[in-house]
Order: sequence, then C-alpha cells, then structure tokens
Amino acid sequence: MIRSGGGGVITSFQLNEVLIAASRAPSPCNRQPWRFTTTGEAQFQVALDHERLLPVLDPYHREGHIAVGAFLETAVIAARGAGKTADLQYFPDGWYGQKELRDLPVARVTLDPGQVSRSDPLCTAISTRQSNMRAYNRRPLSDLHQTMLLDSCSAYQIPIALTQDLGLIQEVATLQARATEVMLEDPLRQEEFFSHFSGLSGRGIVPGGYGLAQCGYGTIHASMMSLVQLMRCYLLNKEDAAASLYSAMVFREMMSAAALGWVSTKGSSRIDQVLAGRAYAAVDLTAAACGVAIHPMTHILGDYPAMKGLSDSLAQLLGVTSGRTIQMLFRVGYARPVPKTERRNTGGSSQVRPVT
Ligand SMILES: Cc1cc2nc3c(=O)[nH]c(=O)nc-3n(C[C@H](O)[C@H](O)[C@H](O)COP(=O)(O)O)c2cc1C
Repeated sequence: MIRSGGGGVITSFQLNEVLIAASRAPSPCNRQPWRFTTTGEAQFQVALDHERLLPVLDPYHREGHIAVGAFLETAVIAARGAGKTADLQYFPDGWYGQKELRDLPVARVTLDPGQVSRSDPLCTAISTRQSNMRAYNRRPLSDLHQTMLLDSCSAYQIPIALTQDLGLIQEVATLQARATEVMLEDPLRQEEFFSHFSGLSGRGIVPGGYGLAQCGYGTIHASMMSLVQLMRCYLLNKEDAAASLYSAMVFREMMSAAALGWVSTKGSSRIDQVLAGRAYAAVDLTAAACGVAIHPMTHILGDYPAMKGLSDSLAQLLGVTSGRTIQMLFRVGYARPVPKTERRNTGGSSQVRPVT
C-alpha cells in the first residue's frame, strides 16, 4: 500500500482490479496480446506478449499495438472509476519502428494515490462492453448516440468518423466481403484465423477464442449451420466451405449496421497505433454505456500485399487521403447482447477471471 500527503492510498487489491478491468479490452481474435508486470505498488508496465500475436494476419503487429492501446485506455478509465488518476509514460525504455518488434514496454502506468473526486461513468461500461458480431436490427442511430460516439475520443486529437449513408455502407460491405475471401484464400492466414474462431471450420469450440456464439447463433441455429456446412463440404473442401460462409456472414453483418465508423491517424508510428487503440476503446466503452452495439471489422485493413488494393479502395471510398492510415473500421447499431468472450488467466498476482 502507498500513501500520499493527501491521505489517499492505492492497495495492491485496487491495482489488481485495474488490471483485471483492463483485460476486458477488445483485441484481434481475442488474443489479448498484452503482458503486464507490476513495477511498484502503484505502477505497472505493459508490453506486447510475443507469444500471443497473429504473425500471419498482422505481420507488423499494428493491431497488436492497437490492442495494447485499448488495454491502456481501459486501465485509465478503471483507475478514474476508482477515483485515481493514471500517468502514462509511453515507450519508457526506448522506441522502435512501425515494422519492428522489440521486447520493450509500450507504456509505464503510475497511479496517483491522491483521491480525485471525478469518477468516470464509462467505468461501469467496462464489465458490460463487448464486440457484438450479430446482425443488427437496422434502426437508425439516434442523433444523441451519434454525437456521443463522435465526441468520445476528442481527447486524443484522433478523429473518428461515422457514416449512415446506406449506399456507402453497401459499397464498403462488398469490399469487406471480398477482403474476407482474400484473407481466407491463403492456407496460412486461413489456419491462423480459424484456429481462434469457434464453430465454422469443424474444429469445435476454440478455448479462449470467439466465434459463432458472438455472431448471435444459439446452439440450435449453430447446429443447423453445421449441417449446411456438412452438405457444402461435399462440393468444396472443409476450409473453403467455411471461408465462403464466413464471407457471406460478414456482408450480412455489415449491411445490418446503422452506421460505419473508422479511426484514422496521420502516420502509423507505434505511438499512433497505441493512441488509435485508446481512441477505439473510448468509442467502444461509450457505445456500451449508451446501449449501442459495436463491432470492429478490420479484415480489409490487413497489412499484407494481397490486401493492399482493397484497403486502398476502402481509403478512397471513405475519403481518407493524404497519407492517413485507417487503423480501425467498425460498425455500430442496435442489437441484443451476445455471450461474452472469455479472458485468459494471466497468472502471478494479477489473476484475470474468465467473464461469464
Ligand atoms: C485491433 C482489433 C481488430 C479487430 N478486428 C476484428 C474483426 O476484423 N472482426 C471481428 O469480428 N472482430 C474483430 N475484433 C474484435 C475482437 O474479435 C474482439 O475484441 C475479441 O474477440 C474479444 O471480444 P470482446 O471485444 O467482445 O471482448 C477486433 C478487435 C481489435 C482490438
């Protein structure tokens, strides 16, 4: 326990609670690619866990850094919810380039033991937040919710944009469905993707992953899909049948959105990626707080040569020009919740509980 002049304290329990809350952050394929170590009673460091990256789908670990940014933002909000401010020092032991990976902390976070009166309403959204991958109910986004989402990450000077233009959403959905096929046409990418996605490729439930349940399919519906899949497997091989079905699902999901949103940055240095992750987490928690469903759909942003043409077309369609990088693409709308994804047990003093 450490004590400030003002009488505030931070207990190891509180620090642990902040880390547990931060682990609720979204991450690609639910990989949770963060590794944290406590470096003092009120301090911890977060680095990328090299064992939990997606080396084929995310070859430069851009999305891995976005996930760490989301972890950091969630930690800051959780700390604020407990009446503490968090001071972040980025890359405290040195920087590394946007295409390299070094075993250095991405951030050192120090919680100020002084009690601040301001709590954060987004804190309660940490336990309810989720990426809702089911088809949405097509109700247009209310003006209030649109304003709240657009304002949610103004603190980062990272703009988010939203469109409710149905024609544009259809064009992006067509590109995204094609991007999903491109992602899955390579056996290595297909293997990496389906080894974390439950229920479509005949592998059954992937422990600690996510899948058909988060797409809103209950047991009966999922079994019917498996039957259809079995029949399709007579015509196509098993993985190709799963790829074409998944691509059709992605199109349907995007077409049901009330709006599409994206987060873009001027460059794509490591700090840009981390800040984009912080900004996305702020949007995600704001959505949860106001009852809006949200779902990242980033296959089209893959940093491998086969995806370049499609991601360039996306940038043109969305008017993201002059060298800006789209870091996150997501849809929002209204929908019933889906089962939550699990969190791994990170061991040590910070036991992260699976969420049921
Ligand atoms: C950088 C990033 C990219 C993501 N891309 C996708 C995606 O393309 N498709 C998808 O269904 N979910 C995507 N997600 C959402 C994750 O699948 C989701 O966060 C993870 O399964 C954990 O579930 P939760 O967000 O409900 O806690 C992405 C998340 C992050 C942080």
